[in-house]
Amino acid sequence: MKPLKIAMAGLGTVGGGVVKALANPELAERAGRELEIVAVSARDTRKARGFDTAAFKWISDAVALAKTDADVVVELIGGEDGVALSLAEAALASGKHVVTGNKALLAKHGARLAALAERNGVALKFEAAVAGGIPIVKALRESLVAYGVETVRGILNGTCNYILTQMEATGRSFAEVLAEAQKLGYAEADPELDIGGGDTAHKLVLLASLAFGTIPDQKNIAVEGIKAITTEDIRFAREFGFRIKLLGIARRTRDGIDQRVQPSMVRAGTPLADVDGVFNAVMANAGPAGRYFFEGRGAGEAPTTMSVVADLVDLTRGNFGPAFGRPAATLKPLSPADPGAAVSAYYLRFEVLDVPGVLAEIAGHLAEARVSIGSMVQRARSPGEPVSIVMITHETSQASVERALKAIATSDKVRARPCMIPMEAA
Ligand SMILES: NC(=O)c1ccc[n+]([C@@H]2O[C@H](COP(=O)([O-])OP(=O)(O)OC[C@H]3O[C@@H](n4cnc5c(N)ncnc54)[C@H](OP(=O)(O)O)[C@@H]3O)[C@@H](O)[C@H]2O)c1
Repeated sequence: MKPLKIAMAGLGTVGGGVVKALANPELAERAGRELEIVAVSARDTRKARGFDTAAFKWISDAVALAKTDADVVVELIGGEDGVALSLAEAALASGKHVVTGNKALLAKHGARLAALAERNGVALKFEAAVAGGIPIVKALRESLVAYGVETVRGILNGTCNYILTQMEATGRSFAEVLAEAQKLGYAEADPELDIGGGDTAHKLVLLASLAFGTIPDQKNIAVEGIKAITTEDIRFAREFGFRIKLLGIARRTRDGIDQRVQPSMVRAGTPLADVDGVFNAVMANAGPAGRYFFEGRGAGEAPTTMSVVADLVDLTRGNFGPAFGRPAATLKPLSPADPGAAVSAYYLRFEVLDVPGVLAEIAGHLAEARVSIGSMVQRARSPGEPVSIVMITHETSQASVERALKAIATSDKVRARPCMIPMEAA
């Protein structure tokens, strides 16, 4: 059988890993066909990359890989537009499969690229784009289909999970742990996309699309990162038997799809709470078929390479269908649920002046908004310093809590913005 001809765009962490992995002869045995790299492109032709770069045909303009005789273009450059987009469009339009790890690209242009792939009878595959080595794209696209999926929740950013885990383990501040993560290479020099929740959001909209058949939608998603989480919140969480995790959550509700990225209190000892360090995890609820939990390495050369190679091996067998698991023309615009209608219990922390009447004032505003308190802890620091008051509410709507906090924030006895973290069901 003829080899599967591959053009590689990007030879960095993932692209370099893929080139090295494709040298493994077992892959061809498994696939029943050779996997042959026919051309490569990266910016610097002289960079040492841990493999013999001279062995490949180099093409300086990555977009021109679409004009080679490759069957598939592997896009591992990155970026939501620019070269990655031009290359994906050109490759699909010229009848080449595209395999990518680029969640930013797909979150923005996924539906259009999926339609382009279908029109040209080729594949758009992206297992590496979500949760590194975890085969969650395939699971949602091909496996959990009989009853559909009601909820997908995940720890989708290893940098954030590493920071939160280290803050808990060492008692050090967010800023200190972030600086250390940057030194160790677990966080980018510009960490905003990770710690601000944007990267989790890119991945979540892809999971939502696979689960609910919606066009990937980055507009209707509430995104909050982990920058405001303090060591105090983490300590209180532990006291109450919870851990704080940055979750991407997509739920089908009666009123529409609720998509959100938010720090969440997850009960200690439950699967998502126990995911530590740079690991990722996804929990999918498949209705009568129950809950499915996937955990593994969410980034890095080997896990991400594994997902790209899995997509390539599928292509050696001609095994592909629509990118999001259903014909692109049937993907529907996402009908968003009202975020304020979401119901949960909440962790609330207030920093207040240690003066009489402050508790009554907070309790009054909460009662007015019909938010009732399940438990409360008050912790003084030193005399004259603000006092922390932590409350766990009973189940209530997000809108009610927000209304109460808005009123409480106007009090001259309340220092800083109150902290509000939803308690996530196990
Ligand atoms: N790293 C991970 O763990 C991970 C995990 C999941 C998904 N991904 C996704 O995989 C993609 C690649 O990530 P990465 O970590 O491998 O990135 P990377 O290490 O920065 O590599 C990017 C590669 O693209 C090349 N490149 C940049 N601009 C180019 C251009 N205009 N023309 C041709 N080549 C160009 C670079 O060339 P030079 O080497 O010459 O600079 C480099 O080889 C991204 O979409 C990322 O989101 C990464």
